[in-house]
Amino acid sequence: MVFLITIVYLLTATHGQDLPCAAQQIPGRSVICVCNATYCDTITRIPPPPGSFVTYTSSARGLRFHKTIGRLSLIDLDPCPGPTYTVNPSVKYQTIEGFGSSVTDAASIMWSSMSKPLRKKFVDSYYGDNGLEYSMIRVPIGGTDFSTHTYAYNELPPYDIKLSNFSLAMEDYRYKLPCAIGGTDFSTHTYAYNELPPYDIKLSNFSLAMEDYRYKIPMIKAIMKGARQKVHIIASCWSPPRWMKTNNAFAGYSRLITDYYQTYADYHLKFLEHYTAEGIPIWGITTGNEPTDGMGALIRLNCLGWNADSMATWIINNLGPTIRNSSFKDIKILCADDQRPLLDYWVTLMFEDHPKVQEVVDGIAVHFYFDSVTPPSVLSRINAQYPDKFIMGTEATAMGDPNNAVNFGDWDRARLYISDIINDINNSLVGWIDWNMCLNKDGGPNWNGNNVDSTVIVLPELGQFIKQPTFYAMGHISKFVPRGSRRIQVTSNEEGSSMLTVAFLTPQNTVVVLLYNRLPSNANIVLGGKQASIVLEPDTITTVELSGSSLTYD
Ligand SMILES: *[C@@H]1O[C@H](CO)[C@@H](O)[C@H](O)[C@H]1NC(C)=O
Ligand SMILES: *[C@@H]1O[C@H](CO)[C@@H](O)[C@H](O)[C@H]1NC(C)=O
Ligand SMILES: *[C@@H]1O[C@H](CO)[C@@H](O)[C@H](O)[C@H]1NC(C)=O
Ligand SMILES: *[C@@H]1O[C@H](CO)[C@@H](O)[C@H](O)[C@H]1NC(C)=O
Ligand SMILES: *[C@@H]1O[C@H](CO)[C@@H](O)[C@H](O)[C@H]1NC(C)=O
Repeated sequence: MVFLITIVYLLTATHGQDLPCAAQQIPGRSVICVCNATYCDTITRIPPPPGSFVTYTSSARGLRFHKTIGRLSLIDLDPCPGPTYTVNPSVKYQTIEGFGSSVTDAASIMWSSMSKPLRKKFVDSYYGDNGLEYSMIRVPIGGTDFSTHTYAYNELPPYDIKLSNFSLAMEDYRYKLPCAIGGTDFSTHTYAYNELPPYDIKLSNFSLAMEDYRYKIPMIKAIMKGARQKVHIIASCWSPPRWMKTNNAFAGYSRLITDYYQTYADYHLKFLEHYTAEGIPIWGITTGNEPTDGMGALIRLNCLGWNADSMATWIINNLGPTIRNSSFKDIKILCADDQRPLLDYWVTLMFEDHPKVQEVVDGIAVHFYFDSVTPPSVLSRINAQYPDKFIMGTEATAMGDPNNAVNFGDWDRARLYISDIINDINNSLVGWIDWNMCLNKDGGPNWNGNNVDSTVIVLPELGQFIKQPTFYAMGHISKFVPRGSRRIQVTSNEEGSSMLTVAFLTPQNTVVVLLYNRLPSNANIVLGGKQASIVLEPDTITTVELSGSSLTYD
């Protein structure tokens, strides 16, 4: 006990006071927090002293990680009005893997546009001790729509321009006088030398792109250096080089040409080799970003179309053996990587019709864009059916009119994020990864004008970046629920309450309760015979952390 208190004082002394948000009120909306090369708001997590709890609150009204410390009391038999949440740490669910965001070309170009001290503030804000303590990154393999142009690795030479297949023909060896180079009309069939293989199936032209060397790799390395937790990186390919595709284009309706199934598996292996050689170990790959995008002719972004059957064939015959027989055999392979409404159908088809897929894949990746169509309970159902396959959220972003993509200070988007995160995590997800880690003020760059919002907007001309309300929505979970935390049971005495809640037991043996309430209300959190009574403002996100050592349950 004494030991614990000593640590608390040490930490408080080391970290000092949090720097508050340099708030700018956006008329009719909430606030943004402005960071420059010398100032950026910080947040420290205080281990709750025994018998106490700490609350962190962000609100539509403009609070950002507002911190208070309270004392746990004995249960009040006549508590103040409002719902009571009973936390039961002995009922445990999934183990949390982590939270994070994506190092796209767009994000890393904007990161590179900042001064060195501002970049450091950026990395600290997301991954550092005094920041959101993110622990995940998603990185594209090659280009996406959030690139300034379309590209893939090994695009050139599409043909074997080095004539590596050159040899004389049977006709030369067996019959011919040296009077014709290859065949003529006086041959029994048409032929030339070096006819096969037409394409560079051995990927001899593979190299990383300028975007990797100049933008993505430096940004990821800066993050790995500044991160408090070990960063786990998930890589996904949007589109292979065009020559592997039936439509010979980056966007639109397409399939992988069957001759290149193995080449495309090798393409993933090459990426892993090249990133590892650059000092960036990859923790997981997905089997391809949004495979159903390439099933429709109208989707104007880099994609490759698959149906569940062809994808399963490729996983079993090519990707699985290639990865599992390589030095990257322990990497996590995540399938689906597509929208929630498709997930049940897609996973069932793959896992039931092609059971060998289950031997290859470790997890299922899901995106957020059509979440309103299908309730989150489908995720728990899939998890119950395949309990050894974890489910990870790999992409989310707030968006609206692409011509007016960035809504400065929009609290509705924070609400959208936190509601989705709580619902997802309450339904078995082990983590949640945001899309572009930052963008410019137009929500780009994006080669196709498919602009969206981001949790951070970089304003190079002002030497600033600004934190949107969604930044804090992410932080209310990422900061307080580190890797290895277990989700635990929390129940309410009110049916259909206006509050969304999820709770965790952290590796530090603290209990974290995340609450989002839309209405002014009090809340009582009851745990192990103790109670934390808190008053919540309207439209607030609150994280409550309670000391585990003062609880009677253990
Ligand atoms: C940086 O931000 C701080 C806090 O808002 C402000 O006091 C300071 O003047 C800013 N520095 C520059 C160079 O704009
Ligand atoms: C050329 O390609 C064909 C078909 O893949 C192969 O059988 C042959 O050995 C290759 N020749 C050379 C010289 O690489
Ligand atoms: C790939 O092909 C291009 C164009 O021919 C060439 O400039 C580049 O050096 C090649 N890269 C590798 C790694 O072979
Ligand atoms: C590894 O390769 C060998 C031979 O090519 C093959 O028989 C085996 O099934 C592969 N192992 C895996 C795990 O794919
Ligand atoms: C979490 O899931 C349970 C059922 O598993 C449900 O009763 C509860 O309402 C859910 N909570 C939230 C915040 O979605």
